[in-house]
Amino acid sequence: MKKKIIFSGIQPTGLLTLGNYIGALKQWQELQKKYFCIYCIADLHSLTIHQKKSILSKNILDILAMCLACGINPEKSIIFIQSHVPQHSQLNWILNCFTNFGEIQRMIQFKEKIFLNKNINVGVFNYPILMAADILLYQTNKVPVGKDQIQHIELTRNIASRFNKIYGNIFTIPEKILNYNGACIKSLINPNKKMSKSDFNKNNIISLFDNDFIIEQKIKNAITDSNYPPIIKYDLKNKPGISNLLVILSNITKCSIKRLEKDFQNKNYNYFKKSIINNLCLFLNRLRKKYFFYRENEKYLKSIIINGAEKAKKYADITLQKVTNVIGLDI
Ligand code: TYM
Repeated sequence: MKKKIIFSGIQPTGLLTLGNYIGALKQWQELQKKYFCIYCIADLHSLTIHQKKSILSKNILDILAMCLACGINPEKSIIFIQSHVPQHSQLNWILNCFTNFGEIQRMIQFKEKIFLNKNINVGVFNYPILMAADILLYQTNKVPVGKDQIQHIELTRNIASRFNKIYGNIFTIPEKILNYNGACIKSLINPNKKMSKSDFNKNNIISLFDNDFIIEQKIKNAITDSNYPPIIKYDLKNKPGISNLLVILSNITKCSIKRLEKDFQNKNYNYFKKSIINNLCLFLNRLRKKYFFYRENEKYLKSIIINGAEKAKKYADITLQKVTNVIGLDI
């Protein structure tokens, strides 16, 4: 039987966080066992924020090396740079014309951005439609993402269904895949908001590049609660800080939350945090070792980029040709 297709993307915008790892990259690696996976480094999406040339190209290679360190295997899966496959921008324009203005105005990420800065560029508005093009080009069945991207997947499904209703079954309607134990890793200081790489206060995030000293400081400062006696229990509503730390520890140790709650029964928060620090340092040191191994070999990274684009183009072109044909652009 033909393997189902997985597609996902990540922006090459600086530091990757533990949120990116738990919400996305960890799943990307695991899904390779069962599915045909296509992953893209979404450099076009990153242009919605002004990027310096030398930094952007460095970030792209950094992210690629980190994907490899997380276990993405370019022999099994396709990994490529979004802008190297021009079909993404071509389909994006076509899908613009099948998307309602109001639909995009309702996107939460767009609303947040316009709330913070009235002078945003049109790319920010268009952003979810480019995401739809990314996904639909590959006849994707499933899209592994964090919770913040759910609305964009819903939009993708709506655009695809609208197009299919007019032209027949051209696009596969994709479904999201969430890591239910970590779909939204929260900020360490404010567990009511997402851990985000663009956060100005770096104490809110754990970067995959934080060293042991920084990890220790950040986890020590992470918010817990003042319950007495201290209880280490998953309870999102009443104990958001502790719940977030349990989810993080569960993901990096592969121990279930239930098991961790048992192990930390009658222990205090200091003891709990020490265990998180030890496990995180161990986990991130191992990951970084692999990262530096790949990052130092730019020739290898560039060969992956060239091969990835070549393979991705073949699949992307089949869908784009179907689309241009049914619309009447092929004469
Ligand atoms: P990006 O680069 O912001 O994030 C990459 C992935 O990491 C997930 N993520 C999180 N998951 C759990 N907890 C968090 N705190 C957390 N922070 C980030 C995101 O949900 C995402 O899955 N637009 C996308 C990139 C993209 C894409 C696509 C994704 C471009 N084309 C097509 C899927 C399909 C983005 O900006 O992700």
